[in-house]
Amino acid sequence: MSVTASDLYCKVAHVVPEIEWAALSADVEAILRLKQERNAVILAHNYMTPDIFWGIADIRGDSLALAREAVAVQADVIVLAGVHFMAETAKLLNPAKTVLIPDPLAGCSLAESITADDVATLRAQHPGVPVVTYVNTSAAVKAASDICCTSGNAVQVIESLAVPKVIMIPDQYLAANIAQQTGVEVIVHPGSCMVHEQFTPDDIATIRADYPDVVVISHPECPPPVVAASDFSGSTAQMVDFLEHAEVQDVALITECSMSDNVAQLFPQINFVRPCNLCPHMKRNTMAGIRRALETMTVEVTVPDDVAALARRAVDRMLAVGR
Ligand code: 13P
Ligand code: SF4
Repeated sequence: MSVTASDLYCKVAHVVPEIEWAALSADVEAILRLKQERNAVILAHNYMTPDIFWGIADIRGDSLALAREAVAVQADVIVLAGVHFMAETAKLLNPAKTVLIPDPLAGCSLAESITADDVATLRAQHPGVPVVTYVNTSAAVKAASDICCTSGNAVQVIESLAVPKVIMIPDQYLAANIAQQTGVEVIVHPGSCMVHEQFTPDDIATIRADYPDVVVISHPECPPPVVAASDFSGSTAQMVDFLEHAEVQDVALITECSMSDNVAQLFPQINFVRPCNLCPHMKRNTMAGIRRALETMTVEVTVPDDVAALARRAVDRMLAVGR
């Protein structure tokens, strides 16, 4: 017997009211049917709303997990519930598969902050210094780079290079945070995440005043003073990992809003204090948009072959670190 939308409600009941789920059920059931018809899988980033994340996704995770899983996907079609650079990364790793993004305007302030010409300029200014590029970039920028990293493996990637200095682009804050952790000198580009740059040490002070025992976990895209005021900093997957191994009561995740909503399903005993900023790009993903993508097989994400070959090399080098 096939799964129905009401069978899935228990996965989202902690945060989605029953009446809201009922309103989504026609789209949910169409998506379940279309996934089978198209032999499709849905990859969802941790910042998807819980209806998408827990309700219809097949593979969930941070940018690193999605890149790793994209290599292993057994399907003809990948729907990337996330942002454009993630869909491009999935396409790079699966050139023979159809990769769809529900809304092609789902961009990223980091990816938009830098071009391949900027990378060439940095290389000319710093000859011989390797270029480490955050995955939150276009395929063209990856193609101009030596190796990629995510917030989940940046330390290992930098350490694997065994050099005293790197060009680390485009997130100035991630670069500064990783420089502090590794002792490696970083040359930066003035990019930032429009979500994480908004958090301040004062926000954390306010939370600590209200919840004296709170454990504060920040994303490394936050400015260094915010990371310094936190108890732990890590990628969205590392946040989950931390919570799995810690005995905590009140937790503040200093990151995008949906993260706490999704993680609350895994840790019902934890009280999530919810300071959050929405990512307008991530929020372009909707149940109706995912249904439309599967119905119309659009919008397909493609990368020119010459760019893809070079970009894949930088992503593959990253995936080889820690394998
Ligand atoms: P991670 O999920 O890799 O921590 O990245 C956060 C992010 O902002 C992705 O856009
Ligand atoms: Fe980009 Fe920040 Fe949105 Fe992630 S949260 S997609 S880094 S703007």
